[in-house]
Amino acid sequence: MAFLQGKKIIVGITGSIAAYKTPQLVRLLVRAGADVQVIMTEKAKDFVTPLSLSTVSGKPVLDNVQEGGQWHNHVLLGRAANLMLIAPCSANTLARMARGLCDNMLLAVYLSAVCPVVIAPAMDEDMWQHPATKSNVEKLRSYGHSIIPVGIGELASGLTGAGRMAEPEDIISFIRQQSAQKVHWDNTTGRRALVSAGPTYEAIDPVRFLGNHSTGKMGTALALALAGKGYIVDLVAGPGVPDPQHPGIQFFPVVSAQEMFAACSSHSKAATLIIMAAAVADYRPEHAALQKIKKSAATKELSIKLVQNPDILAYLGQHKTPEQTLVGFALETENEFENALKKCKAKNADFIVLNSLNDKGAGFGTDTNKVTVVKADGTKIELPLQSKQKIAEAIISEILN
Ligand code: PMT
Repeated sequence: MAFLQGKKIIVGITGSIAAYKTPQLVRLLVRAGADVQVIMTEKAKDFVTPLSLSTVSGKPVLDNVQEGGQWHNHVLLGRAANLMLIAPCSANTLARMARGLCDNMLLAVYLSAVCPVVIAPAMDEDMWQHPATKSNVEKLRSYGHSIIPVGIGELASGLTGAGRMAEPEDIISFIRQQSAQKVHWDNTTGRRALVSAGPTYEAIDPVRFLGNHSTGKMGTALALALAGKGYIVDLVAGPGVPDPQHPGIQFFPVVSAQEMFAACSSHSKAATLIIMAAAVADYRPEHAALQKIKKSAATKELSIKLVQNPDILAYLGQHKTPEQTLVGFALETENEFENALKKCKAKNADFIVLNSLNDKGAGFGTDTNKVTVVKADGTKIELPLQSKQKIAEAIISEILN
């Protein structure tokens, strides 16, 4: 697998002659598997065109906090990134970053970024050697940022000396080294969550499935409540669940329990808070027929052999890290509290949110819910009937408390 597979990298480009090398830099990052968002300053456009960069990154370049009456959410961009690379970083942008100034899109995203920041400076030697620049570089180092050493060679002034931006290949090697040293790639300082929502469909044949009545409303309400608290949320949702289209929510549609297991186990690694609100099928047909099963006069009875699906919550409980909080849901019809507590312990969850089919207006499909938050130590908090959005907010505040 490419070493930057799935990593979100913001490439900030500022006004320096070295900007002409950035299409190659972006190409190498994309080749390494990164999902690259380019942000340019106005001055950078004197050296390289947004068109070249959007072509190699596969995305429109951002250069302004607002565009065509639409506001780009710099806070979420900064929070969602795994790495921010500023290359080339001019003496001017270096100074502005050190001072916390914020008068363009790049600086606004930089100030909101909670991921590692890597800076590849580029300027003439006299500027590079100036005590003001040296002190700015030290300041940025003290913020925990990495500074890629400048190269020595011919400069824009025609002079020869130190100040050239590192070559794109060397920048990639620098990032590779950092990732090998297990630099803290996860952004969001603990504010990344995984939520599952909705039903799973287990295929019987190409037109039939085993499913359930979950609509995903509860899980989606939880994802929205977490995004409202500044979390970046990976929402893994079963069939029929609409994408909430929120900039803080990354939507991953799946169909079967096995697909949900694959998506959840992969996204769980980055999450510090995991809430499994999906209604996952415990069993699936052992074999899904390739063609539609036909009715025949001779076949009066038909049996389908079911095999067990992976238990996603139990798997996440077995692999829980000390930084993670794991929350499951339970839909019970009898001995509700006892069963929920049993589930909480058996699956190594920290909380189980219990809803009962016996409560009117609670559970599947409704816009309201009434739940009991059961803690692993056996204590419980009852949340009265209210909208799923309000219930979601109350659940989150109980968990975070
Ligand atoms: O989607 P809505 O229409 O809004 O309805 C919400 C809801 C009722 C579906 C939701 O609030 C809820 O209760 N979800 C869990 C229902 C359920 O399937 O409970 P369970 O007791 O079967 O599972 C217990 C826990 O294990 C759940 O967190 C479930 O996601 C998880 N599980 C179950 C089976 C499995 N193979 N893997 C799992 O991870």
